[in-house]
Amino acid sequence: MPYHTVFNKLAAYLFFLATVTSCTTAEIKNIGPTPLVLDIPTGFSEMKIPADNPMTVEAVALGRELFFDPILSKDYSISCASCHFPDHAFSDTVAVSAGVHQDRIGNRNAYGLGNVGFLEALFMEGGVPSLELQVLAPMGERSEMDLQIRDAVARLNEIPEYVDLAQKAYDREIDPWVITSALAAYQRTLISGDSPFDRYYYEGQENAIDAEAKAGWEHFQALNCTACHSAPLFTNQGYFNIGLYDTYDDPGRGRLTDKPEDHGKFRVPSLRNVSLTAPYMHDGSLKDLSSVIDHFASGGFAHPNKSSLIHGFAISEEEKGELIAFLESLTDSSFVHNSDHLPVTLR
Ligand code: HEC
Ligand code: HEC
Repeated sequence: MPYHTVFNKLAAYLFFLATVTSCTTAEIKNIGPTPLVLDIPTGFSEMKIPADNPMTVEAVALGRELFFDPILSKDYSISCASCHFPDHAFSDTVAVSAGVHQDRIGNRNAYGLGNVGFLEALFMEGGVPSLELQVLAPMGERSEMDLQIRDAVARLNEIPEYVDLAQKAYDREIDPWVITSALAAYQRTLISGDSPFDRYYYEGQENAIDAEAKAGWEHFQALNCTACHSAPLFTNQGYFNIGLYDTYDDPGRGRLTDKPEDHGKFRVPSLRNVSLTAPYMHDGSLKDLSSVIDHFASGGFAHPNKSSLIHGFAISEEEKGELIAFLESLTDSSFVHNSDHLPVTLR
């Protein structure tokens, strides 16, 4: 059952409780937050949910409001969604995102957030182990939202709607734990596993993708792209240097480990919804999928850390078109256009 159906059912249930039964308001409150069961797509493994932040309808509702609210940035100008656009599978459309100070832009491309709840570690160097902890990075980052979490707490506790949502979700006032927990819970609902390719591959619907995309899927396997971009997430979550540069400005995983052999290694990005997440690579330096394929076909620069899996290959224009058609078949329109991901005011 898609989780929006779960939402609807739960909403109907709550309405029923509130109207038909003779419960007092106090009794209804005692029921506590409503558990939310995620709909995990075929082929995916279960998502690990921290024991102290179980999925509930109310936590997700609070996280969704926070994700779209510019109140979390210093000058009230930027929300999480300013760099993670729902229409673009929660990625940014520019190479590097601008934060609250237009003159101070970051140096990385914002990848999509689809299936982010399934990742073992976050950020391109894998330095952050949970979505709860991740939240503090963009908020505190001078080049992004530039707001201390204690200031966010003070702002939000002045807004009765937020205080009420926090009570319902976690039975306490807004505090740093509530903010990070709710944003994490919301992001765990951003699950994408219903693309035409899924219907073809996992559900056996032969006509879900056309002959061109099928040929592209064959090339994708024959060229060993699957060694790193493996189904179902289309990332093996490993860290590789793909010879994008001969010298990297951004050390990637080397920034975390400080080891020379990790220099220029980045987490393999998921290719789900990739046709919507241009520009590409950690710095957004490649403008379209054709340029990405040209990079892999060229074999890239001979960086000492370059993976031996990147060695170049010959590909015709026709085969390239097929490979792109396959990549496009990973676009999940029911994910991208799911209005349940938006606050009620934006639906
Ligand atoms: C100014 C633009 C900007 C804003 C605002 C922003 N992000 Fe990001 N986000 C990025 C960029 C760029 C990255 C990639 C950074 C990296 O991997 O090192 C990123 C990465 C992430 C990741 C990790 C994804 C992954 O694949 O590892 C998560 C999760 C995330 N952001 C959530 C949020 C949340 C929640 C907010 C609001 C509190 C937010 N972002 C606000 C630009 C932004
Ligand atoms: C050795 C592992 C590896 C192999 C093999 C590999 N990739 Fe990648 N791919 C990566 C990494 C790592 C990145 C990100 C690199 C960076 O940002 O510096 C990437 C980036 C991409 C991107 C850009 C995604 C985005 O959101 O920016 C696409 C598209 C892509 N690869 C497609 C392919 C295709 C097609 C093949 C086969 C021809 C392939 N990859 C083979 C590791 C690999």
